[in-house]
Amino acid sequence: MLERQSRGRIPDAPHTQLKASDGRLLYEHCITREGFDGPYTIAYHEGRPHEAQPTADAPVQLPPASGFPERLLRRHYTSPQSALELEPFPRHRGRLLENADVALSLAMPTRSDAAYFANADGDELYFMHSGSGTLRTLLGDVTYRTGDYVYVPRSLLHRFVLDAGATQHWLVLELRSPLKLPGSYRNSVGQLRMDAPYSHRDFRAPTLNAPRDEGLRDLWLKNQGTLQKYQLTASPLDVVGWDGSLYPFAFSLEAFKPKVGKIHLPPPVHATFEARGVLICSFVPRPLDFHELAIACPYPHSSVDVDEVLFYSRGSFTSRRGVGPGSISHHPRGIPHGPHPGAYEGSVGAKHTDELAVMLDCTQPLARSALAESLEDPAYHGSFVASAGSHSTG
Ligand SMILES: [Fe+2]
Repeated sequence: MLERQSRGRIPDAPHTQLKASDGRLLYEHCITREGFDGPYTIAYHEGRPHEAQPTADAPVQLPPASGFPERLLRRHYTSPQSALELEPFPRHRGRLLENADVALSLAMPTRSDAAYFANADGDELYFMHSGSGTLRTLLGDVTYRTGDYVYVPRSLLHRFVLDAGATQHWLVLELRSPLKLPGSYRNSVGQLRMDAPYSHRDFRAPTLNAPRDEGLRDLWLKNQGTLQKYQLTASPLDVVGWDGSLYPFAFSLEAFKPKVGKIHLPPPVHATFEARGVLICSFVPRPLDFHELAIACPYPHSSVDVDEVLFYSRGSFTSRRGVGPGSISHHPRGIPHGPHPGAYEGSVGAKHTDELAVMLDCTQPLARSALAESLEDPAYHGSFVASAGSHSTG
């Protein structure tokens, strides 16, 4: 996904001997994609990395988002006002929307993960609406803070260690095909172009510490929506070195350098990540359009082959009323959408926006969960009618 990096001790050539100081042979561990044809990372362990065994615990089937909206409506889901005590780890995420390409969940954990986790169902991309802590992985630690995206490659063993006192409120995307940076941001050798909205320096790769034993031996694997508990025979954090292009990272939303146009530019200019069927865009504070007759607010539009989801994080949103920090809107294909009454006219002459938001354009229709239904603001669809009066988020 990103350029090759290297940490710790590695031998001169792959698949050759690397020894510990006492002469013991260390164990190579190839983490590959697309079989053996895609990006890969090679790690070197003190112990055998493949000794985990399933426990006698019954597998846990996670409920999918099952029902499509019963009526074609623009939807607004409000994040819970207090910590979402869903269920203990590893069932601590509340799935809201899902299709074959992506599952969108909320997580508001109050405790560090008490076991390791590896998700074989897809890459994970977190947006940390609030919170701070450390993503601890097989390949090292990545610290995160409010406003960061955090990427965890498919099946990478990890756990989250929360900073004391920090309120955690995360948007969690599970992407069933590999997360990528848009290809148009790369030059002919794969380097990020000089006109890309970010540079390689903006991605914070892991710090590899000396092998450590946290005393944890439980590992939960997720595959096909089912969680299975495994027991490790030793600490998995025994990697002495690695190199490759597959590794977790953090990227601050505010590191995204937005494009600004003379007239309104469509959302794909804010593209940050992509995966099959999903375009992920970042809206960050920026000057607005500078044509003397520009209308800064987005125009009403019928983007007829995508479902659009917006997660509102911070700032005032020029086009929408009634949404606030933590709000999630879902505008399905099939009906036009656009600004709330007055926003279009009111945006004339606006010079700046301080909005901070994450947007998904999804090519497959999204189903929603019972949890989403319980968080729905029922007045939202009607709030786009000018005569409907003021709107409440409920
Ligand atoms: Fe839209």
